[in-house]
Amino acid sequence: MSTFDEYLATFVGEPGYLNWAAFGPLAPSVREEVFADADLLGSGRPSSVALVAERIGQAQELVAGLIGADAAEVALQPSSTQGLMHALYGLGGHVIASTGEFPSVSLTLERAAQASAGALTPRWITPVDLRVTPEAVAEALDDDVTALAVSHVDFRTGYRADLAALRDVLGPDRLLIVDAVQSFGVIEDDYSAADVVVGHGYKWLRTGRGTGFAWFSSRARERIAPVLSGITGTVAEGLFVDALPVPAASAQAYTVSYPDHLAAARLAVGLGDVQGAEVSLIEARLAERVDTVIEIADRHGIAVHSPRERESRAGIVALAPADPARLAAALANAGIVVTARGETLRIAPHAGTDDETLRMLDDAIAAAGNETFTSA
Ligand SMILES: Cc1ncc(COP(=O)(O)O)c(C=O)c1O
Repeated sequence: MSTFDEYLATFVGEPGYLNWAAFGPLAPSVREEVFADADLLGSGRPSSVALVAERIGQAQELVAGLIGADAAEVALQPSSTQGLMHALYGLGGHVIASTGEFPSVSLTLERAAQASAGALTPRWITPVDLRVTPEAVAEALDDDVTALAVSHVDFRTGYRADLAALRDVLGPDRLLIVDAVQSFGVIEDDYSAADVVVGHGYKWLRTGRGTGFAWFSSRARERIAPVLSGITGTVAEGLFVDALPVPAASAQAYTVSYPDHLAAARLAVGLGDVQGAEVSLIEARLAERVDTVIEIADRHGIAVHSPRERESRAGIVALAPADPARLAAALANAGIVVTARGETLRIAPHAGTDDETLRMLDDAIAAAGNETFTSA
């Protein structure tokens, strides 16, 4: 069995789960780690506590490895939104973002601007089909623009932004801030085309909440003031009193306090699984699973609102049936977990989604009477 096959074999949940874009059921290795670490922390022995704390550095190394960066440029975060806060609160000038972004991008940008006393201004765009293309960004560019904040993969449409092309259009002097929540660990891309990459482990990495992380390139660290820097964000090693040390030069500057050891351990173990299996293989298998979901939708005449080309998508398929509420109820009754929101149903398989789950999807749509759900 190859390491990749071993990775696939860890998807041991009940069939019917197609909601990885919302929450990733914890990997078996992650669950085992939680129990083992709880025992170690329960002992109170300094050596045991230190053993768990080693996972912090390991998690940083693993995130950095997948980006092709240095571990000192990665800071663990309680959530990806907190990573975006560190990036956006420290910026000035005009920052482009789509109004359709997940609020971790849009609301954080707005709040940062409100707190900036006029130094930061959002430059909102509403691109066609919510696709932040290089063309849509080019239209909004002028000399005041200092950065673009964008989701690598849009949480609703599943559209995957072209990081290299966005970098090209921004040029070398503006920052590219990427929310990689819906891609990190399942899509191999040149993340180092960006300056800031944030993500978390509670969806595609299967590590539970509390497992955020953020990478800040040297260009980002030069330009983003560490305004939310806390007691762990300074040049001081360990506790300081009667002193107010300056922020660290590393990504540590963008931290508030000590990371949750248990969360760091979960993240390190989940990332270790992904590294062992290889992101390119995970991506290829996920693409096959997504092909099958699209094929099922097409066969039942249900409109697909997400991109079809592999290079413009990741693990999210947005379906737009004529009667979304009815189809959502039919899927739920058949034991299929998806996200139903407004006019669309978001189907999100993972690389380890089994044939049985996809058959259940097919059968549930067929049994419910597909003519009810087609939008002609
Ligand atoms: C694209 C995107 N960004 C950010 C978040 C929120 O991340 P966190 O809970 O780590 O702040 C989500 C959650 O669904 C998301 O889909």
